[in-house]
Amino acid sequence: MDTKLIPTLNNMGWMIAQQPDLYTEAFIEYARTAEKPVLEVGAAYGVAAPRILQQGGRVIVNDLDARHLDTLYQQTPENLRENLQLLVGSCVDEIEITAGSLAAILCGRVFHFFDSATILQCLKRFAHWLEPNGKIFIVADSIYHGMNEPIFSHFLARKAAGETNAGRVSLLDNPRLAVQPHRDEILAAMPEYFHFIDIETMAGFFNQTGFLVQQASYFPAHYYYEVSLWDGREGVGLIGVKI
Ligand SMILES: C[S@@+](CC[C@H](N)C(=O)[O-])C[C@H]1O[C@@H](n2cnc3c(N)ncnc32)[C@H](O)[C@@H]1O
Repeated sequence: MDTKLIPTLNNMGWMIAQQPDLYTEAFIEYARTAEKPVLEVGAAYGVAAPRILQQGGRVIVNDLDARHLDTLYQQTPENLRENLQLLVGSCVDEIEITAGSLAAILCGRVFHFFDSATILQCLKRFAHWLEPNGKIFIVADSIYHGMNEPIFSHFLARKAAGETNAGRVSLLDNPRLAVQPHRDEILAAMPEYFHFIDIETMAGFFNQTGFLVQQASYFPAHYYYEVSLWDGREGVGLIGVKI
C-alpha cells in the first residue's frame, strides 16, 4: 500500500506514514546516545517513537488527542511499553515536564499551525524541559509549500513590511486548493490558517529563546501529494542546541 499520510482524528492534518525527513531521522539517531528520555511533541500516532522504543530508548509522546496516543499504546509491543510515556494535552500551555529532564525534543509538522507568539512560548517551554546542551528538532511546512506558490508575492510584501506573522495564510480562498477536486474534504481535515515558516524567522526565534542553530535547511517534502509541492523546498527543518 502506498499511503503516504494517515489522517489525524482531530482534523489537524495528517501523520507521515512512510520514510520521514532527515531531521526526524537525526532525532531518532540522537536518541540512541541519550541518557535521559526524549520527547515527541504533536506526534499524532508517533512518527519517531516506535523506532526509538525498538532501539531501546525511553520516549515521552505528546499529542492533543488521546485517541492518537491510545492507538500508539495498542500498537506498541508489550515488552517495550515500560519505556513509553504518554502525555495528552497542549504543548503550549497544558503539559508539564520536569525542568532539565529531557535529552531532546522533536516537534514535527506542528509549528505551521501556530502564530509567532505561540511558537515562542513553546520554544521557551522546550528550553526549560531540556538538559544543558539538549537539542530540539523542528520540522514544519515552509514558505515554499505548494499552497503558498500562487500567493508568494503577498508573503514577500508582508515580510518586507516587517509583519510579525508574515507567513500566515487562510486556506479557505487559496487559489491552488480552489481547483482541487477534493477541496472541501482537504479543507475539513486541517485548520483554516497556516503559518508557513522561513529559516530566517525561525532561527531568530531559536536565538530569542536560548537555542543556537546547529543545522537548518529546506528539503523536498516527499511525504506530500502534488497539491502541496512546489520546487523541492516545501519542508523546513532546524536543529537547535540549548545554551
Ligand atoms: C500534521 S500532524 C503531525 C503529526 C506528526 N508529528 C507528523 O509529523 O506526521 C499535527 C499533530 O499535532 C497535534 N497538535 C496540534 N496542536 C498541538 C498542541 N498544541 N499540542 C500538542 N499537539 C498538538 C495534532 O493533534 C496532530 O496530531
